[in-house]
Amino acid sequence: MENIQQLIQSAQEEIKTATDLVAVENLRVKYLGKKGLITALLKQLGSMSPDERKQMGPIINGAKQELQQLINKTNQALTTAQLAASLAKESIDITLPGRKQTVGTLHPITKVRQRLEELFVSMGFDIATGPEIEDEFYNFEALNIPAHHPARTTIDTFYLKDIPYLLRTHTSPVQIRTMQKQGVPIKTIAPGRVYRKDSDATHVPMFHQLEGLVVDEGVTFSDLKGILNNLLESFFERKVELRFRPSYFPFTEPSAEVDLQCTLCNGKGCRVCSDTGWIEILGCGMVHPNVLQAVNVDSERYTGFAFGLGIDRFAMFRYGINDLRMMFDNDLAFLEQFY
Ligand code: DAH
Repeated sequence: MENIQQLIQSAQEEIKTATDLVAVENLRVKYLGKKGLITALLKQLGSMSPDERKQMGPIINGAKQELQQLINKTNQALTTAQLAASLAKESIDITLPGRKQTVGTLHPITKVRQRLEELFVSMGFDIATGPEIEDEFYNFEALNIPAHHPARTTIDTFYLKDIPYLLRTHTSPVQIRTMQKQGVPIKTIAPGRVYRKDSDATHVPMFHQLEGLVVDEGVTFSDLKGILNNLLESFFERKVELRFRPSYFPFTEPSAEVDLQCTLCNGKGCRVCSDTGWIEILGCGMVHPNVLQAVNVDSERYTGFAFGLGIDRFAMFRYGINDLRMMFDNDLAFLEQFY
């Protein structure tokens, strides 16, 4: 009898101090399992005298029920505590700053190229492309720059080793290729990469040009001025002042360099325009008869104009950048400004 009371008491103690569900389950097996200590007592009831059984039966059964209840209660308490603990661990601190999703953007030069393309397309131009690896015929000869022409020495050309090819020094060869392919009349632009052995704050060995070519009957220099004026006013979104300076290119005659009145100082003179009030913005002219003849176009019947502009320079003026090399450093801190 006393033994039974002791057994019940120590079982209660053990269950109450169990710290996890596994320990409680082990105690259930120890006392109430098939070979448990209380189960063993219940089994003994069968071999007792009726009087003893009458006395012990309720005590042992009561102990079994009591322990089972205690186990249930302890399990419940431990489960609740465990849940609370894991909730506390998994809880989200909504006061923390959020994780930013970074979104890629187009490179400023790509943006400017696309903008120029849109403006030209809206004026009825097609867009053509040509290879970056060219031969001397397309890059020079067909453009009226013969082998010993002084203009060849002024161009810092990357020649390919052992083969008669070079990296195109300008987009002008696309004039020849598109006229060969589709003949005239033609009204097209050709944007793309060009290469020269050059490197300083305003020159890099690879840069971008956009070539323009319009050939038809009766095309005049004033058509060229009109197109360029339209383009530049649309691009800079303001009235612009242009200055056509006589110049020389072998593939045009007459040739001109176009200066834009500095958009930063309105011609007063500043750092960007080197205090001249003007920014050199592109080269242009009337297509030289030799160029038309190189692609079998009747130069008596057809006339045309051409121009070549630096896309990178346009990007510099649009965004107020004074070192061209920054465009190609792939520095995110710089590029992220052009969202
Ligand atoms: N090809 C010239 C250059 O690389 C730019 C140019 C000037 C293109 C006059 C033209 C032009 O079509 O008419 O500097």
